[in-house]
Amino acid sequence: MALGGSMRPNSSSLMSLKIALEGAAEAGAATEVIDVRTLELPMYMPGTDGEHAPEAARRMAETIYSAPGLIWASPHYHGTVSGSFKNALDWLQLLADQHPPFLTDKVIGLISTAGGVQGLQTINTMEYVVRALRAWAVPLVVPVPQAWQAFDEDGRPRDQGIETQLQTLGKEVARVAQRMTLREVSDPAGECAEAAARASQADRPRRDQ
Ligand SMILES: Cc1cc2nc3c(=O)[nH]c(=O)nc-3n(C[C@H](O)[C@H](O)[C@H](O)COP(=O)(O)O)c2cc1C
Repeated sequence: MALGGSMRPNSSSLMSLKIALEGAAEAGAATEVIDVRTLELPMYMPGTDGEHAPEAARRMAETIYSAPGLIWASPHYHGTVSGSFKNALDWLQLLADQHPPFLTDKVIGLISTAGGVQGLQTINTMEYVVRALRAWAVPLVVPVPQAWQAFDEDGRPRDQGIETQLQTLGKEVARVAQRMTLREVSDPAGECAEAAARASQADRPRRDQ
């Protein structure tokens, strides 16, 4: 499941997602794109539950929850992810009460597109979100530099190296997601580990005591 793009009609981050999905499909995955632009999500409202959430947000959260592997792509805006991409992620708060919650044990591939060459900063920001939502990022990441010239009119990367990296990322997500699914990493051992970690935090004496 690919999530991303921008509010721009010819979004390079959306084009990147589509190329990465080619790799995932080649590795045997059923693929789908969630385009931030066509989602028309309102701004996230804290406290909104599934029952009262806008239809677009509920459907997006459910679709993402059903996928074992995800690919995210955001444009690099002022050194970090774009507001529209982050807003889509904020709506994943609707998954807080799921069992397991949020994106537990999902495998995520990360892409950014930047006007310059600092897109890795955006990927690093995305990694914080991956961890907060209890998912796993694959080690390969693809920051596409100088995105204004990276794709041709048909949405194909002009640079063969970028195309290969994006497709390889898609393949990696499909491969690792399949392994995670087969081994059922998410349940009870994972939950036990988390409970044990919480208990040890609670037992730890506070410094000021
Ligand atoms: C509001 C805004 C902020 C941006 N900030 C940066 C930036 O800090 N560094 C950079 O290299 N490019 C920056 N860019 C350029 C975008 O990263 C670049 O155009 C990107 O490829 C857009 O993705 P898209 O084609 O999916 O819309 C910015 C663009 C916008 C609109």
